[in-house]
Amino acid sequence: MSGNRAFDLKKYTRQRAKQVDRALGQHLPTARTKPATLHQAMRYSLFAGGKRIRPILTLAAAEACGGSGGNAMPLACAVECIHTYSLIHDDLPSMDNDDFRRGRPTSHKVYGEGIAILAGDALLTQAFEIAAKARGWPRYRHATLIHEITETAGSLQLIAGQVADLEGEGKPITLPQLRYIHERKTSALLTCSVRLGGMSANCTPSQLKALTHFGYHVGLAFQVIDDILDCTQTTEQLGKTAGKDQAAAKATYPAIVGLEKSKKIAEELTTKAFAALKPFKGKALALEALAKYLLKRDN
Ligand code: IPE
Ligand code: IPE
Ligand code: MG
Ligand code: MG
Ligand code: MG
Repeated sequence: MSGNRAFDLKKYTRQRAKQVDRALGQHLPTARTKPATLHQAMRYSLFAGGKRIRPILTLAAAEACGGSGGNAMPLACAVECIHTYSLIHDDLPSMDNDDFRRGRPTSHKVYGEGIAILAGDALLTQAFEIAAKARGWPRYRHATLIHEITETAGSLQLIAGQVADLEGEGKPITLPQLRYIHERKTSALLTCSVRLGGMSANCTPSQLKALTHFGYHVGLAFQVIDDILDCTQTTEQLGKTAGKDQAAAKATYPAIVGLEKSKKIAEELTTKAFAALKPFKGKALALEALAKYLLKRDN
């Protein structure tokens, strides 16, 4: 893997995360809006300090295709709302039963299960309200963009992955079955994030193909690394309870192939993601830097 050393990813992600936070803050009802408990809960999870990887990928993909980011921002905010909703529900006692998220007690710990479920529901719906504010292009109609999000968040992708993840607990799972879970619960939303960015910039069909390939592999690497971090980092470092996967007998890469092989797989997937960016001929600097960072991240 080669890359541009001069690209300041820290500065880039800090700036983009700030822009995303500002836009999200404007799109969401204020914390005082009735029902206040619900809007407080939505904001509590959304502004708890997530890495904003998905919306930043959307913006970076738009830029790689010559877009300015303006038309990408509502889509970036929409994917972050879907991601945050998926985390609130993922943490529920009936799912992964987690007490910490993004360095804070989980939504249901603070607001109770009922409000946590409803805050997740509201964030999912909010995503579509925000995405409705984006606009289409000659190549990609607005309805195409919305359809892309419905497919990703729906019963064939994100939810399918979460179902298989739950049903796989405590069972012997094969590597292809684990790949199926990771493709759906994680890679689908990362792929969608970069595709939406590209489409918001009216990208060419070959650019969209490259972004799809990139997102798919980066997305898979992302979950392999998440599995690795769960058993190598501390709760403090992660901002969520470490060692939960083993305790819940989750199917993970480290559980099935061991830690060293898992690291190798994450590297191979990242190399493939990197290779997918070749058609951009060095113009996808932010995406390149993000792929590298995601492999080395420690939270
Ligand atoms: C955590 O995602 C859930 C997974 C899909 C592994 P992130 O690691 O992006 O979580 P935040 O948004 O930074 O909290
Ligand atoms: C979460 O996977 C995937 C989704 C929320 C869709 P994990 O269950 O591994 O995520 P963490 O480790 O709780 O963040
Ligand atoms: Mg889970
Ligand atoms: Mg979880
Ligand atoms: Mg995890």
